[in-house]
Amino acid sequence: MRILFLNHGFNSLSQRLYAELTADGHQLSVEFDIRDSVAEEAVALFVPDVVIAPFLKRAIPPSIWQHCPCLVVHPGIVGDRGPSALDWAIQDGEGEWGVTVLQANGEMDAGDIWASRTFPMRAATKAGLYRREVTESALACVREALSRVDEWRHGRWRPTPLAEAGGRGRQRPSMRQSDRRIDWENDGMTTVLARLRAADGVPGVADALFGERCHLYDAHPGPRDAGGEPGACIARRDGAILRATVDGSVWIGHVRRHGTAPAFKLPATEAFAEHAAALPDRPAALMRAADDYGELHYQESADGRVGFLSFAFYNGAMGTDQCRRLEAAIRSVTERPTRVLVLTGGPEFWSNGIHLARIEAAESAADESWANINAMDDVCAAVIGLTDRLTVAALRGNAGAGGCFLALAADLIWAHPGVVLNPHYRNMGNLYGSEYWTYLLPRRLAAGPARRLIDGRLPVTAGDAAEMGLIDRCFGRAGEDFDVQMRTQAERLAADPALFEQLAAKVARRAADEAAKPLARYREEELARMHRNFYGFDPSYHVARYHFVYKSPQSWTPRHLACHREPGWRRADGAGGGPRGPFAGVAATVAG
Ligand code: COA
Repeated sequence: MRILFLNHGFNSLSQRLYAELTADGHQLSVEFDIRDSVAEEAVALFVPDVVIAPFLKRAIPPSIWQHCPCLVVHPGIVGDRGPSALDWAIQDGEGEWGVTVLQANGEMDAGDIWASRTFPMRAATKAGLYRREVTESALACVREALSRVDEWRHGRWRPTPLAEAGGRGRQRPSMRQSDRRIDWENDGMTTVLARLRAADGVPGVADALFGERCHLYDAHPGPRDAGGEPGACIARRDGAILRATVDGSVWIGHVRRHGTAPAFKLPATEAFAEHAAALPDRPAALMRAADDYGELHYQESADGRVGFLSFAFYNGAMGTDQCRRLEAAIRSVTERPTRVLVLTGGPEFWSNGIHLARIEAAESAADESWANINAMDDVCAAVIGLTDRLTVAALRGNAGAGGCFLALAADLIWAHPGVVLNPHYRNMGNLYGSEYWTYLLPRRLAAGPARRLIDGRLPVTAGDAAEMGLIDRCFGRAGEDFDVQMRTQAERLAADPALFEQLAAKVARRAADEAAKPLARYREEELARMHRNFYGFDPSYHVARYHFVYKSPQSWTPRHLACHREPGWRRADGAGGGPRGPFAGVAATVAG
């Protein structure tokens, strides 16, 4: 089918659907929701069989839904309506939530129901649930809905009108900050965590720290016996501030300050640097109880042969000091007599590369970019240089840009099928990229496919990545199933007598590669290009980073996504493109 995505932005859910539906054999194109007339042009040019809105903040205009079936993904159970579906579900402590695919009509979220799924809730942020449970359910719903389009067109199947659907969902208003308010004098940890999770990644909970107004994000349970008056800031760790509640404490990882620039979220200790510096530092040991908060965590298999190092950096963004701490952790855990080191990233993201927000906030964005990419390269070098044991990158969450290439530094790369990779840099203002990608990518892909990946700038599912050889294996399901299987596989690897041969081959290969072209030269060449990106005359990277960090509204759809805007685009069935349907006149004007 020819499917047009009408989107607010190309977010993780849209990327996963885009990659999966393309793999299913559909022809996709994307148009960002900029204004009705632009969407109408897109429909006229692409002549879609169906429009899908995976992530849309406004209603689809009647001029489109009256002529073409438009399927809207709503992150709520059957009958639920409103823009804060997940926020209410988390805050109200729902045990089960869901996704519904409705056909757009004149009323928001009130169209006929084409498909729905439910899932058990887990203690996670709104963004975390969205990226995992909502995305998996939405994919199942969209596939089911697409399988009905033909029958629907021929009148052999009809979607269920909302009034007949039953379901316990209801219309809910947009959640306001007054609904999210935390009463530090009375609310316990459970309530505080639920409120903060329901508002994370956006909009955060409006509150105050050190007497200054700010929004809070990225909350984790703290110790029950932390002490301190409710609401008081007690300590700091890994960029987070520990705040007392009536019955314990919570770590607040990120805040967005009001009034003073920068007006985006930053690690709490960076946003309130002076105040935070006065708090006692409570560093987390690498090996500690799993429920004790900290960005880095290390544990070993029962037989001591496998080490698992996780690095749960918020949003997968790795600032200079975070890279330095990770590098130190890698060096420290390799003093342990393990045979296999598994790098597990974070539960939400593996890595998204250098920390664009902290760079934006720095006094010199160019200098901070430079420091950050060098620190990132040092992490990669530490992994590549580990020749006395096998390394595995186990991707529990998505990876983008430099974060993808960090994974390629490991000997083996495993991921579950829900993972989406963006193994390219150019979307960030034509950034050239480093992380030894010019060494690591050709180890896995031939020149043609590698170039297509870098220039194509498209998301790739873990399944496709495994098929093309970019990663080694894709198994399990999102969440704990993958964790369990990944641990078993790693232990098997460490127990395999063939491991020593593999390690000998690894040493020989590294030595041969080094003789052919030293690693330092790859880095030097990549960094020479990055230096131009950061300090050169072309400001594209700085402009793109600014818009990314400040979340500037989209003003056009990139050409690599809007294939219907390519001159002379052709339909996959060879029937040719060109304006058709009710908006043909509009498109002809545009083309003219
Ligand atoms: N630095 C800082 N913040 C980052 C980040 C980075 N490198 N990558 C992602 N984020 C943040 C986003 O701003 C967003 O913040 P929010 O919590 O306020 O919403 C959050 O992480 C989730 O990102 P989002 O873009 O919504 O996730 P996605 O899954 O839809 O898209 C990517 C994933 C990787 C395509 C996209 O995040 C991206 O392009 N990131 C930048 C990658 C990059 O260019 N890195 C630098 C070069 S190495």
